[in-house]
Parts: sequence; C-alpha cells; structure tokens
Amino acid sequence: MSQTIEDLTAILEGTPELTVSEPEPGFPVIDVQTPVSAATIALHGAQVLTWAPTDHPPVLYVSPKARMTPGTALRGGIPICWPWFGNHPEDPAKPAHGFARTRFWELVSGDLVGKVATIVFKLVPDEETKALFPYDFELTATIRIADKLRVKLQMRNTGEESYQVSSALHTYLSLGDIERIQLEGVKGSHYVDQLSDDKEPVYQEKNLQIKGEVDRIYQSMSSVLIRDLDRFRSVFVDKAGSRSTVVWNPWKEKSKEIKDLPDKAYREFVCVECANAGTDRPTLRPNGSHTLETVIGLRPLN
Ligand code: BG6
Repeated sequence: MSQTIEDLTAILEGTPELTVSEPEPGFPVIDVQTPVSAATIALHGAQVLTWAPTDHPPVLYVSPKARMTPGTALRGGIPICWPWFGNHPEDPAKPAHGFARTRFWELVSGDLVGKVATIVFKLVPDEETKALFPYDFELTATIRIADKLRVKLQMRNTGEESYQVSSALHTYLSLGDIERIQLEGVKGSHYVDQLSDDKEPVYQEKNLQIKGEVDRIYQSMSSVLIRDLDRFRSVFVDKAGSRSTVVWNPWKEKSKEIKDLPDKAYREFVCVECANAGTDRPTLRPNGSHTLETVIGLRPLN
C-alpha cells in the first residue's frame, strides 16, 4: 500500500463524516456516515464492504470468514472484477476475476455534499499488473453513498494498442433466506449456464427462484429486483454499460468447499453482478473508455 493512514486522513480532512480505520493492520477502510446511510469501503480493491440506509439491516453480504489480507480476494460487498471476469480467457493459471479486486487503489478524493458522500479511487498499471495484463489503463471507481448506493467503474485505455476486457461489479446481496426470494428482471432473456458443458443459451421463462446452485450469465440489459419475503423488502440493482447480468449462488456443497464461507452461508446471499461477461466484452481502443455502473437500493415489498 503506497498511501499511509496519514495520507488518507489528510485527503479526507474537513469531512468528519468520512474517517479512516484499520480493522486489520495494513488494511485501511473508510467509514462513511451520511445523514441517510452508512458504508465501509476498503482501499484494497476499492471494495464497498457494507452499505445500508439508516435503521435498515445490511443490504450487502460479507462473509464472517472473509479475509482482510492484501493480495487476497475478500468475500463479500462489491468486489470489482477486471480486466477479466471468471477465469482468464487463455490462461487459467492467472487469478480468477482479474487483479483489480486484489490490489490497493489510490484514494483521490472524498467529500459529503448534502446527503451524498462521494469517494473516488484510481488504479493504474505497475510491474505486477503488467506481468498479468501487458496493457496500459486507468481505472476510476466513483462510489456515491446516499439513500442509494452507486458504484461507477470507468476504464480507459491509456496505451497504444486496442484490447478487450470483461468485468463485473460482483455484488453480494444479503437475504433473509435464499429460498424465500423471487428474482425479477431476467425473465424473457437468455442465459449461459456456467455449470453445464452446453454453452447454448437457455431461455428464462419465469422469474427466478433459487432452489439449488446457480451460476449463470444472463444476456440482459435490464435492472433486477429481488423480492425478499423474509425481510419484507425488495432490493433493486439498476445498471448501465452492461449487457450481461451474472447470478451466482454456490448452494450447499460448494459453500462447504469455499474456505472463506461458512457452510450455511449460501442461504444468506445471492450475487447479482452488473457485468461485461460472456460475449459482452467491450473493446477499448487507444484513449477509448467504457463505463460500467450499478445503483442499488431498497423498495417496499409489493
Ligand atoms: C461468480 C462466478 O461471478 O463468482 C462463479 O460466476 C464463481 O463461477 C464466483 O465461482 C466466485 O468467484 P470467486 O473467485 O470470488 O470465488
């Protein structure tokens, strides 16, 4: 980490609603308290860990076994997957979901205007990223915390060669119970089932109810609404710059295999990821850019 706690505190000086703490040594986070909500954001991965409107239970799920270890993916909140989603297209030995989630980002600014806190982070290449991805880029993550949560990832090609990327805002949503939700917004679209060898797109006829392992890339530009019957609320996930939505839940057996997840954790979350995945892989030309954005919030259950 190149920015010290003193550096971070100096950038946030004058905004007492944004403070820096270190839940683990060498793993700083920004604690945000707005008049309408609260959030925690890690410098590692520019990863939103928690967010909820005041007096509401958590909207994001974080595994109680999540590791706050530099260079390791932290299971929960909103990891940013970039410059590839899932396995690297040619080299499965490279880290899953790219490197953006396992690097420290630079804090550029943080402020609070009215009810809205805005925090901006940046990531640029270094020798380690060049070894994994030999291109130049500038990533800017702008996180707006208010009565809704907005995460905007701007990716810019600062080099001289074109390249393709895939990515995801890999949102872990906290649930009352996985079997007591209805996921709306994917009905009528096609998905590729990542659990099947058959990569032929499958038509989604109905709203989704999850009764087993799911790992799907939906070809969809629509927002998703999760009706959570146990929590008497709906959670919406709006998006822009994305033609694919990933829905993932590891279910019983895989939860046991995932070391940083309690065995029964699969009941408490679903990932709904605003993505550029599958055939949705934007090309970044020299000086070209692409923006992936998600907005998450609560609605009454209807
Ligand atoms: C999802 C993928 O986005 O992330 C799944 O579709 C994957 O295939 C899951 O298992 C979790 O990935 P990771 O690397 O954070 O364990």
